[in-house]
Amino acid sequence: MIKAVTGTRDTLPSDIPKWNYLQSIVESVFSRFNYKEIRTPIFEDTSLFARGIGEATDIVGKEMYTFLDRSGESITLRPEMTAGAVRAFIEHSLDKKQNLNKLYYMGPMFRQERPQAGRFRQFHQFGAEALGSNDPLLDAEMIIMAYDIFAQLGLKNLLVKINSLGVPASRENYKNILKKHLEPFFEKLSSESKKRVDTNILRLFDSKEENDRNIMENAPLLLEYLDEDSLQHFEKVKQALLASRIPFEVDARLVRGLDYYTHTTFEIVSGSVGSQSALCGGGRYNLLVKELGGPDIPGIGFAAGMERILLACENEKSFTLDEEKLDLYLVTIEKGLENFSYNTALNFRRNGLTVDLDYLNRSVKAQMREANRTNSRFVLLIGGDEFARGEIVLKNMSTGAQKNFGKDEYDKILSEIKE
Ligand code: HAM
Repeated sequence: MIKAVTGTRDTLPSDIPKWNYLQSIVESVFSRFNYKEIRTPIFEDTSLFARGIGEATDIVGKEMYTFLDRSGESITLRPEMTAGAVRAFIEHSLDKKQNLNKLYYMGPMFRQERPQAGRFRQFHQFGAEALGSNDPLLDAEMIIMAYDIFAQLGLKNLLVKINSLGVPASRENYKNILKKHLEPFFEKLSSESKKRVDTNILRLFDSKEENDRNIMENAPLLLEYLDEDSLQHFEKVKQALLASRIPFEVDARLVRGLDYYTHTTFEIVSGSVGSQSALCGGGRYNLLVKELGGPDIPGIGFAAGMERILLACENEKSFTLDEEKLDLYLVTIEKGLENFSYNTALNFRRNGLTVDLDYLNRSVKAQMREANRTNSRFVLLIGGDEFARGEIVLKNMSTGAQKNFGKDEYDKILSEIKE
């Protein structure tokens, strides 16, 4: 039997309502902040991600689904959306249409990571990107939107962590200081961390190795080496968060897995989902647009993992949805009236009701069971003496009350059901 590929999942009909609910909250929060949806292709030229996310990152180094297509082009399934959104922004000169572009998106992303709870190879993100302003209020806006979405879903066990990575000049200076500090411990570092000392030294703060962690415990922190402008920017972000009553903590060890960040970075983690606890992550990327061949325009954004969010919601039982209901189920109690039932159902469907009927030649009892299983609010009984008199019987399933109608009195039946 052929099964779904490792790390991918089916979303079955019974799971769709909670996905739709999540999606509706995301859309309503983003639109209240005046973000507009953008959709970009699921695959892009490989070089976009290599340049955008950074050659030395795990994503580009070992997680991308990259292949040569039949004409020999190197194609990559998008591992995230920021690079694609920025590419589209540049390609369509969106900055010429308005000075600040506030964009949002939702869709599947692909990373060949080791699958575990909350980590998949095809997963879904929603996210936002604001291109065109360096205002620290926008940094705070991203965090507020993410937090508001989680709060609306009823999530409680949340921690907002923020940090600043400053600008490249102060960061390069700091990297040298960190490297010097680590020299006496170099031999004790894990082999992975040894490699990263030259390629991506900040990621040493992310190491899961006990020994690396001990060594990094006393390492100097980038926050202590930020330039004055970066510190001021960070201060304004914190003030805006305080004013918006979002609880947060500064985590000077928060480093993100993507290379494009400058200034503010953040993550919101949940205490309800185990080790893959980051529900979202993001930050400012003031150099990325230029890096990808566009004008010198700053940006900020975040993305959130939808599977993880729904897992957190499930574990916290943070919301319950109403059962799905049919308005009407047609029960045909007499052979030969199937076509009448079918056309009657069609008529009600075309008038906006959610309607179903039997296609399996079932007994009346089994049809009534089906009406119950589908939580039908009303049943229409078709056949018997009533039908011979030109009538059909509408039964209200919550009260049990029955009412007879002429068999073509659609409007009367409709208003009874819609009441
Ligand atoms: P990221 O931290 O790589 O950032 O991913 C954001 C979120 O996507 C994570 O916090 C997590 O919830 C979810 N996620 C990532 N990988 C997986 C996976 N394998 N399985 C399930 N969920 C996953 C970005 O993608 C940046 N583009 C965020 C950003 C936007 N920065 C600026 N703008």
